[in-house]
Amino acid sequence: MIEDARIFPDVHLLSQAAAHESVSVIEAAAREKGLCSICLSGGTTPAKLYTLWATAYRDKLPWNQIHFFWGDERYVSPENSLSNYRMALGTMLCLLPIPAQNVHRMPTTLPLPEDAAEKYEAVLREFFGKQPPAFDLLLLGVGEEGHTASLFPGSPALNENKRWVVPVRVPAEPPQRLTLTLPVLNRSRNVFFLVAGANKRQVIEALRKEPAESVSAYPAGRIRPQGRLTWLLDQAAAGS
Ligand code: 6PG
Repeated sequence: MIEDARIFPDVHLLSQAAAHESVSVIEAAAREKGLCSICLSGGTTPAKLYTLWATAYRDKLPWNQIHFFWGDERYVSPENSLSNYRMALGTMLCLLPIPAQNVHRMPTTLPLPEDAAEKYEAVLREFFGKQPPAFDLLLLGVGEEGHTASLFPGSPALNENKRWVVPVRVPAEPPQRLTLTLPVLNRSRNVFFLVAGANKRQVIEALRKEPAESVSAYPAGRIRPQGRLTWLLDQAAAGS
């Protein structure tokens, strides 16, 4: 089920719309709480949004009140070209006046991913308190087989209903990752799915066809947040 879908001619216009939509979300959170929590997605699609935040929106947002988290991370060093943190650092974080303590990178250099997951959960607990995190803005992408964050079809992590962060082995490179779990992701106040490219058309069509009341066969379809869910698609992914 894809309800609130907005379709754009290309990923540039999709990213401009996402940046524009993000302003009201961020400003509302900053007004209400004096801070805003944004959970970033990895992969390639969000890079253009991150670049817009760092350029066209550099002087439009209260960066010192924004805290960045990650929905998932590849278990590689932050210098590795596969790192989601490195992608955000290069496109945005290194260009903006964001206090270092506002950037909550997933720890991926501990010997045991299990320890890293526990450590990141402690980071979330320290920031959000006892209640599970409720990000003001969660960015997500979709893989061709329907994964989101690093929750892949058939993963036992899809049934995790207590832990907020888990280590996972996935059928993608690199296989070792950390991911937030559905209970956390679904507490987000605003979720933007950013999906671009003809290679996503088939999974978008399959998600669209699923009955609203069914449990989705795809992890991306299991994202049913308490808050607002917006799909931003380019024409190539949305199909006819
Ligand atoms: C990751 C992402 C992942 C991503 C999808 C889509 O670590 O790879 O978090 O969930 O959003 O794989 O990636 P693209 O935007 O590159 O298509």
